Amino acid sequence: MYNKAYTKMKRFSSYFCAVFALALLFSLTPSSADSHEKFVQCLYDYPENTSISSVVYTQTNSSYSSVLDVSIQNLRFFNVSSKPVVIVTPLVVSHVQATIICAQRHGLQIRTRSGGHDYEGLSYVSGVPFVVVDLIKIREIEVDVENNTAWVQAGATLGELYYTISQKSRTLGFPAGVCPTVGVGGHISGGGYGFLMRKYGLAADNVTDVHIVDVNGNLLNRKTMGDDLFWAIRGGGGASFGIVVAWKINLVSVPSTVTVFRVPRTLEENATGIINKWQRVANKLNESLTIRINMARVNSSQSGNLTVQAQFESLYLGRADDLIPYLQKNFPELGLVREDCTEMSWIESILFMAGFTNGQSTDVLLNRTQLNGLSFFKAKSDYVRDPIPDVGLEGLWPFFFDDEAENAFVQFTPYGGRMDRISESETPFPHRAGNIFHIQYGVSWFEKGDVAAQRHVNWIRRLYNYTEAYVSKNPRSAYLNYRDLDIGVNNNGHTSFSQASIWGFKYFSNNFNRLARVKTRVDPRNFFRNEQSVPPLGTNGRK
Ligand SMILES: Cc1cc2nc3c(=O)[nH]c(=O)nc-3n(C[C@H](O)[C@H](O)[C@H](O)COP(=O)(O)OP(=O)(O)OC[C@H]3O[C@@H](n4cnc5c(N)ncnc54)[C@H](O)[C@@H]3O)c2cc1C
Ligand SMILES: *[C@@H]1O[C@H](CO)[C@@H](O)[C@H](O)[C@H]1NC(C)=O
Ligand SMILES: *[C@@H]1O[C@H](CO)[C@@H](O)[C@H](O)[C@H]1NC(C)=O
Ligand SMILES: *[C@@H]1O[C@H](CO)[C@@H](O)[C@H](O)[C@H]1NC(C)=O
Ligand SMILES: *[C@@H]1O[C@H](CO)[C@@H](O)[C@H](O)[C@H]1NC(C)=O
Ligand SMILES: *[C@@H]1O[C@H](CO)[C@@H](O)[C@H](O)[C@H]1NC(C)=O
Ligand SMILES: *[C@@H]1O[C@H](CO)[C@@H](O)[C@H](O)[C@H]1NC(C)=O
Ligand SMILES: *[C@@H]1O[C@H](CO)[C@@H](O)[C@H](O)[C@H]1NC(C)=O
Ligand SMILES: *[C@@H]1O[C@H](CO)[C@@H](O)[C@H](O)[C@H]1NC(C)=O
Ligand SMILES: *[C@@H]1O[C@H](CO)[C@@H](O)[C@H](O)[C@H]1NC(C)=O
Ligand SMILES: *[C@@H]1O[C@H](CO)[C@@H](O)[C@H](O)[C@H]1NC(C)=O
Ligand SMILES: *[C@@H]1O[C@H](CO)[C@@H](O)[C@H](O)[C@H]1NC(C)=O
Repeated sequence: MYNKAYTKMKRFSSYFCAVFALALLFSLTPSSADSHEKFVQCLYDYPENTSISSVVYTQTNSSYSSVLDVSIQNLRFFNVSSKPVVIVTPLVVSHVQATIICAQRHGLQIRTRSGGHDYEGLSYVSGVPFVVVDLIKIREIEVDVENNTAWVQAGATLGELYYTISQKSRTLGFPAGVCPTVGVGGHISGGGYGFLMRKYGLAADNVTDVHIVDVNGNLLNRKTMGDDLFWAIRGGGGASFGIVVAWKINLVSVPSTVTVFRVPRTLEENATGIINKWQRVANKLNESLTIRINMARVNSSQSGNLTVQAQFESLYLGRADDLIPYLQKNFPELGLVREDCTEMSWIESILFMAGFTNGQSTDVLLNRTQLNGLSFFKAKSDYVRDPIPDVGLEGLWPFFFDDEAENAFVQFTPYGGRMDRISESETPFPHRAGNIFHIQYGVSWFEKGDVAAQRHVNWIRRLYNYTEAYVSKNPRSAYLNYRDLDIGVNNNGHTSFSQASIWGFKYFSNNFNRLARVKTRVDPRNFFRNEQSVPPLGTNGRK
């Protein structure tokens, strides 16, 4: 019955289908007797494509664990007991459509995974019976150098995207994240930033079209999805709204030669004073220049004691000969000299920032394994609107000397430039003008078990508690792509707008209201949900 209906559905326009299919789905309320065998049979019976049987992995399949584990990027979620009943690795859109239809029919939740970098593992861990749709095989990239655009499928990584662009042009780039293994599916739908943000904005700001499969199994594009859904998935996270299959993006110009540096300054070398000055200039510098700071503990060369090192990492879209006098004038405290600087192509700067500093070939960008391997990891984020005074920084340093902080970092990323000229409601990502910089706090560890995990998580929570006085307030803001379940979760899957508001306004500010309205239109029964998904409004728009 549903087969016939869905074949028929495809002939109608998307808005019509949405209404039609909704009525249909109400008659398909899953019964608890349904098992994953029936779900798998449903996939096999899906009309459009029989080859789906080659991409369905049940728990008894000998490849199940390797398929699940290959994209897990955080050891905290490696051996969890709540694993998917089935993993589907679609080859084509019809496999995605079949999985969405059959999962609803048989009472299974879907978690969509592209690169698997979600900090809380939400793309492959769930407390209820669920299916992982893993887009690892949907990752083609087509670069159009004539029009400076590209179509990139959701399962591609940033490294694959940057590599493919560089094969076509030395003077085109894309403003997205630093780590090449990150998936474009999650990254772009949650914002996505890197060293080109001050000049070109976020990855999501440079999306011009999207292909997404909605809860009714319809493949939509920018025209057919409606302006509100197109708005929502460029910063609001894809997971609440459907399964993104591909993005069309604008490529941006980069000069054929750029300059990078990485300049370390310890506390003994006046790191506190230099950071103080950085906070007053970093967001006002020429937008072709981005200087971010990575703070971590190191052994002091002077005393053999521990100290904190602030590493000033920078990309300048120009030559070193222009950069040095510019910084001597605007940020002399850093003491940059010619020897600190290296000129290279933009793609080489991607390797440099990703930590490939031994002259590796750009092929390493195609490797989906993180350079330094995996660790147990927890992170949090903040935005800063007024400079943190020296006393605030000085209170931060002792945290680095705690045992738990051996592999911890605090990263300051400057805003300003293009980010100041994009309105807060242009996309769901609200952190624009008024922010001087963004903070990420992270802690890694290698010791297994709950005790070690709890110690490290407690450490970062204490640090976060300490910095409260110095960061954005009402709400204390956070970056969706640095997912943090500490800031609030939906109530046991029974989502309410008021419960979700606890975390929703931190990630999205007032855009959260509009996100909930979009959700209400496109997924009113809240099929696409997770611990921090956007909830639909209750009947009659009730909050
Ligand atoms: C090592 C590392 C480095 C990072 N560096 C940066 C950085 O430089 N800049 C930055 O901005 N961020 C960075 N991030 C954060 C990163 O942007 C987010 O974790 C992002 O969500 C990862 O996308 P993914 O596809 O790899 O993750 P996934 O875990 O696959 O997905 C993340 C979320 O998006 C959903 N999702 C994934 N694919 C789709 C899809 N196709 N359709 C709908 N929903 C989907 C998932 O269900 C999940 O909710 C980094 C993360 C890590 C682990
Ligand atoms: C069916 O899947 C194969 C790959 O497995 C693909 O080549 C073909 O185009 C698909 N057909 C449809 C109608 O999606
Ligand atoms: C595992 O699943 C794959 C993909 O569906 C299939 O090709 C393979 O035959 C299965 N293997 C086993 C042992 O079931
Ligand atoms: C996962 O479990 C296996 C088997 O018990 C164990 O060998 C491995 O060390 C565990 N890995 C992590 C990250 O806990
Ligand atoms: C560039 O865009 C135009 C207009 O959309 C299109 O006709 C042309 O084919 C595109 N160029 C390439 C190389 O695809
Ligand atoms: C996106 O890309 C284009 C280049 O095509 C660039 O000019 C623009 O400034 C970028 N950013 C935004 C926010 O539009
Ligand atoms: C440290 O930096 C501050 C501000 O940049 C500066 O005023 C101060 O003189 C510096 N202190 C030393 C000892 O260099
Ligand atoms: C910023 O840097 C670019 C690249 O070097 C340069 O062309 C531009 O003139 C600079 N702008 C200002 C305001 O200094
Ligand atoms: C720092 O010193 C400790 C103790 O002397 C040593 O074990 C550790 O390897 C050193 N770390 C680095 C990065 O040199
Ligand atoms: C070593 O570091 C600690 C913590 O910052 C500090 O209290 C102590 O004075 C330092 N000792 C030396 C010899 O520098
Ligand atoms: C990919 O990178 C990992 C981590 O650096 C490395 O161990 C592995 O050998 C690389 N794989 C290939 C095919 O180069
Ligand atoms: C956070 O700090 C406040 C005081 O500033 C304190 O009352 C509270 O216990 C702290 N919480 C944690 C988890 O450290």
